[in-house]
Amino acid sequence: MDQNSQAVSKVTVPAILERKLRGEKVACLTAYDYSIARLVDEAGIELILVGDSLAQTILGYDSTVPVTVDEMLHHLKAVRRGVRRALLVADLPYGSYHVSDEQGLANAIRFVKEGGAEAVKFEGGRNRARLVRKLVEAQIPVMGHIGLTPQSIHTLGSYQVQGRSLDAANELLADAEVLEEAGAFAVVLECVPRELAAIVTRRLRIPTIGIGAGPDCDGQILVFHDLVGLSYNPLAKFVRSYANLGEVLHQALVNFRVDVAEGGFPADRESYHWSAAVREQFERETTRLA
Ligand code: KIV
Repeated sequence: MDQNSQAVSKVTVPAILERKLRGEKVACLTAYDYSIARLVDEAGIELILVGDSLAQTILGYDSTVPVTVDEMLHHLKAVRRGVRRALLVADLPYGSYHVSDEQGLANAIRFVKEGGAEAVKFEGGRNRARLVRKLVEAQIPVMGHIGLTPQSIHTLGSYQVQGRSLDAANELLADAEVLEEAGAFAVVLECVPRELAAIVTRRLRIPTIGIGAGPDCDGQILVFHDLVGLSYNPLAKFVRSYANLGEVLHQALVNFRVDVAEGGFPADRESYHWSAAVREQFERETTRLA
């Protein structure tokens, strides 16, 4: 297969599962709009998540809790238009599956039908196994999310590493196994000790996707804004910054302001012109009128 045909071969849920069998890691990133989705997709990232982290990165809320289904859908539709190859997964936001499993199914169907998602993700372990089964029965692939679950911030009190004690680790392992048994095709492990993530990864047939869970997971996911230096929050220990776009953009904007203030922008080459004929006609008429 040449590089071009590989670039457009669609990533599907079975393809993600096969990567684990072949020992190939899965690279995942968030995206929240069309232009970034195109960049992420064209870089060959296998899975793009329209994460509810957009509540903070894009909408400026102080947690993921306030973001609504309609807000998520708005961004999901934009991302859908930019993604050709990657598997597109959307987060069910807080409150969109907590009233009942029927509510969760109805919102997941909206994400698939209206937003073009190919799978959904939601937070929780054994407490969400029934909902996983319900969605899988409705042909909606599900990605689980355990460990640190940011939608539980009011219960947790702070964003901390989970599964540090052996009891907590056993609970998390049980959650992971139940999610797999219920039919999830992958599970995100957020902020858990590397040792525990390695055990979960060995125990499961479905891929584990780590974020702050060490290098032994089957895949890794980061928030796009953290990776490229566009985040206003202090970066967590697990984030590697691959670019400082915040600094690059700041400098570009300051340069623009200074150019405008000093008359350096726009230049003549950045301006439109009359044709010579119109200019001559104008000059004749203004001379005649004067
Ligand atoms: O919303 C999000 O961005 C997530 C992460 C796993 C990155 O859930």
